[in-house]
Amino acid sequence: MTTSPPTARVDTDRAIAQVLATIRANIAAFGTRYPDDTTRDNRYDLRPAVPGFDEGANRGWTTSFWPGMQWIAFDLTGDADFRDAALAHAADFGRRVRDEEDLDTHDLGFLYTLSCVAPTRLLADDERAGDARAAALSAAEDLMSRYLPSAGVIQAWGNLADPAQRGRTIIDSLMNMPLLTWAGEQTGDPRFGEVVARHTTELRRHILRPDGSTFHTFYWDAATGEPLRGATEQGAFDDSCWARGQAWGIYGFALNHRATGDDSLLAASRTCAEYFLAHLPADDVPYWDLVYNDGAEAPRDSSAGAIAVCGLYELAAADPANAERWRAAADRILTSLIARYTPAEAADADTVLLHSVYDLPKNVGVDEGTLWGDYFYFEALARAARPDWRPVW
Ligand code: GLY
Repeated sequence: MTTSPPTARVDTDRAIAQVLATIRANIAAFGTRYPDDTTRDNRYDLRPAVPGFDEGANRGWTTSFWPGMQWIAFDLTGDADFRDAALAHAADFGRRVRDEEDLDTHDLGFLYTLSCVAPTRLLADDERAGDARAAALSAAEDLMSRYLPSAGVIQAWGNLADPAQRGRTIIDSLMNMPLLTWAGEQTGDPRFGEVVARHTTELRRHILRPDGSTFHTFYWDAATGEPLRGATEQGAFDDSCWARGQAWGIYGFALNHRATGDDSLLAASRTCAEYFLAHLPADDVPYWDLVYNDGAEAPRDSSAGAIAVCGLYELAAADPANAERWRAAADRILTSLIARYTPAEAADADTVLLHSVYDLPKNVGVDEGTLWGDYFYFEALARAARPDWRPVW
C-alpha cells in the first residue's frame, strides 16, 4: 500500500511563484555580490563599502540568507540557475573562512549552515559540495573557539577579550547550534554535541523567564561561570520581550530538542510559543516588541512572524499531543503574512516580506524588508506547501 504525502493547508502557490520571481530578479541585479541587511523603501542596496571591504562584499551576519533562499528555490524547482548562483556564494563563503574575514561572531551558524551545509545536503556527489563541507567544518571549529567552559555558553558578539561582550550570549544563538550538531554528525567528534547540550541548557535556565517570555541577551561571569543578569539590545526594555527573540526561542529550542532529544528543550519551545501566541494582535503578526499590542503606535516585525511560523511547524512535528494547535497557529500567521505583508506584485519590491524591523532602538531597518525575513518567509512557505519538506537546520 502506498501512502500519499501530507497535503498543504495554506494556499501558497501564488506566494511561492512570486518569491521565485523576486529571487530571479535579484540574482540578475546582484550577481555574486551581497545585498544589504535591510531594504531602503523596499529596495535592497548593495552592502556598503567599509574599510577593508568593497561594496557588496561578504561581511556581517546576514549574507547567507540570500544563498539560503537560492538553495530552497533549487530544492523546490530543480532549476540549475538557482544552484549555480548559490554555488558561487558557497565558494565565497569558503574564501571568507579561509581568509579569516569577519569571523568574530556566533552567527557563523547562520552563515555557514545556509551557505555551505545546504549544498552538502542537496548535492551530495558534487565535488563543489566537498569544498563547502570543508568550509562549514572550519567555521564550526571557529564557533567552538567562542565557547566559555566555566559559563557553559558561546559568546555572541565581538572579540573574546572585549570586556563589554565577554560572557554575553543572546537568544538568537539557539539558531547557530545546528552548525555544531551537523559538524558532530560529520566528524563523530563528541565535543560538538557536548557544547550544544550545555549552551542550550544554560539558555533554557537563564534566558527564558518564569512567565514564558525571554531576555534578548544574558551575561555570565566568564571566569567564575556565575550567571549575572538579563538585558536587551534590540528590544524595547530590559524586561520587555523582543518579538524576534521570542520567535528565535520557539524555533531554536525546537531544533535543539530535535538534535539532543532533551525534552526540557521541547518544553521550552512550547513555553515560548504559548507566550508569543498570547501576545499577538488581531491580524496575528507581532509588533516588534511583545509589550505592544493592538492600538499601539509601533511598527510590526513581520520577520518575527515568519520565524515563528517555521518554529511552530517544527514544534508541531515534535509534539504530537498539541500538533494541531501549533500547526493551526502557524497557518494563521502565514496566511496573514501572505495576505497583508507582501508586495502586490514581485516587481513592486526587492524584498518578499514587507514591514519588518531590524533594530528600532538604533533606528536601523524600521518597517523595511530584511534578508532574514525574506529567508524565513520562503522557508515557511516551503514547509506549508510540502509538509514532508525538510529545512537544512
Ligand atoms: N540575530 C540578530 C537579529 O535577529 O537581529
